[in-house]
Amino acid sequence: MRIGILGTGTLAAALGEGWIRAGHEVRIGGRSRDRAAKLAERLGRGAYAVPPREAVAGRDAVLLAVSWDGVGEMLGLAGAADGALAGTPLIDPTNAVAHGVGDLLTERGESMALRIAGLAPGAHVVKAFHLFPAGLWTGPADDGRPRATVVMCGDDPAALRIVGELVRDVGGAPATLGSLDRVRQLEEIAGFVIGLAFAGVDPNSAIPRVS
Ligand SMILES: NC(=O)c1ccc[n+]([C@@H]2O[C@H](COP(=O)([O-])OP(=O)(O)OC[C@H]3O[C@@H](n4cnc5c(N)ncnc54)[C@H](OP(=O)(O)O)[C@@H]3O)[C@@H](O)[C@H]2O)c1
Repeated sequence: MRIGILGTGTLAAALGEGWIRAGHEVRIGGRSRDRAAKLAERLGRGAYAVPPREAVAGRDAVLLAVSWDGVGEMLGLAGAADGALAGTPLIDPTNAVAHGVGDLLTERGESMALRIAGLAPGAHVVKAFHLFPAGLWTGPADDGRPRATVVMCGDDPAALRIVGELVRDVGGAPATLGSLDRVRQLEEIAGFVIGLAFAGVDPNSAIPRVS
């Protein structure tokens, strides 16, 4: 696939590495051309640093790997308001969560995924990859078992299929919770996990095992 990555930080590097390993072509666009160039060099063959607008043009999927409060600026640089992402699966891994507390920083009832959909008219937003640390996706998988289940929400079946393939390519197992109507539920889980972990409780022990 031809993948675009907006952002040059930890998650961009981890998923970029996994997708290059799987044989995809990755274009990286950051607000800093220099950091994009460094990341492309680190990822090696198949990775290219380009301006954000070029990182989203003609891509099979785009990952929006920026801090939640940088989403508006980055989508602006990519030309999202002009329809640059229309028809493109746009992966939203963002966590608008207060560090160490777990409160969601979005308005009551609002979600990052729907905010992003509003900023990128026509894009097929898929919430995915927000729950697990970036390091899970780096390095070769030890055995044939999935590293984790990546639960996704999205309105477009074709976009969910494409993102599901990209989940498998980094060793995850995709699962769809539902449409973007339910995405707030998925975003709250990050707050649940972070809140319990910082309170010294293992979040895994707080979920019933269902046979
Ligand atoms: N790291 C993880 O384990 C992990 C796991 C799941 C989800 N996530 C989510 O993935 C997203 C990226 O996380 P990360 O760990 O990769 O963060 P990071 O290493 O801190 O990188 C953040 C990226 O966002 C960019 N950015 C910040 N403010 C911006 C703005 N106003 N305009 C344009 N770009 C801006 C930064 O650009 P500069 O370098 O120019 O500052 C950088 O490329 C976050 O929303 C995070 O919640 C992260």
